[in-house]
Amino acid sequence: MSRIVKIFDTTLRDGEQSPGCSMNLKEKLEMAKQLERLKIDVIEAGFAIASPGDFESVQLVANEIKNATVASLARSTEKDISTAYEAIKTAVNPRIHFFIATSDLHMEYKLKMKPDAVLEKAIAMAKYARNLCGEVEFSAEDASRTRPEFLYQVLEAVIDQGVCVVNVPDTVGYATPDEYFRFIQGIRNNVPNIDKAVISAHVHDDLGLAVANSLAAIQAGAGQVECTINGIGERAGNAALEEIVMALKTRNDIYQADTNIDTTQIYRSSRLLTKLTGVKVQPNKAIVGENAFAHESGIHQHGVLANKQTYEIMTPESIGLKENKMVLGKHSGKHAFVDKLSSLGYSFKDEEILDLFEQFKVLADKKKDITDKDILALVEQKQLAIPEVYSLERFVISTGNTISTAATVQLRKNGDLIEGVSLGDGPISAGFKAISELVGSNLTLIDYGVEAVTDGTDAQGEAQVKISDGNQVYHGRGLSTDIIDASLKAYIDAVNQMIYINETQVHAEKV
Ligand code: KIV
Ligand code: ZN
Repeated sequence: MSRIVKIFDTTLRDGEQSPGCSMNLKEKLEMAKQLERLKIDVIEAGFAIASPGDFESVQLVANEIKNATVASLARSTEKDISTAYEAIKTAVNPRIHFFIATSDLHMEYKLKMKPDAVLEKAIAMAKYARNLCGEVEFSAEDASRTRPEFLYQVLEAVIDQGVCVVNVPDTVGYATPDEYFRFIQGIRNNVPNIDKAVISAHVHDDLGLAVANSLAAIQAGAGQVECTINGIGERAGNAALEEIVMALKTRNDIYQADTNIDTTQIYRSSRLLTKLTGVKVQPNKAIVGENAFAHESGIHQHGVLANKQTYEIMTPESIGLKENKMVLGKHSGKHAFVDKLSSLGYSFKDEEILDLFEQFKVLADKKKDITDKDILALVEQKQLAIPEVYSLERFVISTGNTISTAATVQLRKNGDLIEGVSLGDGPISAGFKAISELVGSNLTLIDYGVEAVTDGTDAQGEAQVKISDGNQVYHGRGLSTDIIDASLKAYIDAVNQMIYINETQVHAEKV
């Protein structure tokens, strides 16, 4: 008989903390909604005390998410814990997640506290948190390098205070699967009141063992695993959610454990995160990499054609990769369009549907067949839209291999038309330069790329631009069947992001 292992997603906290993965308020909310569609059990929405912006985003996620527990991280101080609670208290099911380091190394050099003081603090904070919130999780940071007897003592004490989940992280990704298995078994066998709490595993990937360690923990009896989409996270990342979930599903004969996850939402979740952060997944990444289901060699193709199971241990459909073949075109009506949106898991208000349908019609005039990926790209573009201070009105770019490229770009700034001309090495650099001069800020281009959304010469191009104003990096996206149009829109989106983020930060400071 299979049991259910709870999936605790920390993409928005441990994941978002990693370089290049920061998201704005709206992006965090869209990611949280996708995690809800994925049927995550617990969404760790952030670290509320970290900044006013973090507080606001945790609060927003807590308000909007209805079908998952929403957690906020806190250090072991009353201020941290009460701030975490303030941010999540409106959630349907709130959880305070507080932590303190328990290894000798961390206690001596980081906390500069004696073990007795750490134990006392953990007990006091567990009591404090439980008085605020019905559901409290405790993490013993660097648990895998903690003296077992001390760890057992701390866990027993916090469970006595009503903590219902005890998380025992391999904070630095040092443990091996066999060791982590025995470590979880040790907790089960030596913490007298462990039946009153769920054991949670939280593993980092410094030695590439995070997923193996998480699975070992499940085999040893852990009832919750903490992970992130695409395995993003501090340093080498956290355990990848999609790998744990698909391993449990594909090798149920070994693990005898299920999850509540709707695996057909995995590919979409991975794709959305990539779109939000601009951080790409390596092509050979398990489950969600571009090549994960590609069969290039003749022998493999032959085998798969004869019987899929020769080289395919799970189907692309099971992670939502294969498209539903019902293609839309310019003669498709609003009904078919709405049906398609709902089959993809989206529901929108009437006015939003009208707007999306209009964009769909514009696209259908330029592109013969519109696939699920095209629709998703339109939907994501709409969901992530922020107030547009600048928008692209028109551009003319003359280019060639023997002349300098000249770009004339006309923008609308809060409704007024402004125009600029610039020379550059090519159409993109000339266009970007013209926009940057019109905006009047000293902006540096950090990263730029375009990808086709689907196959075919009429495919939509999705451009990503990262710019810096010297303080922060801003990430913009643009979508069009013309790649120069997509690129200029992405640059303008990055400028609008800069304005939006700076304004929401000012606003957040008032919270
Ligand atoms: O890796 C870790 O130890 C953590 C804890 C704060 C839960 O992220
Ligand atoms: Zn961590």
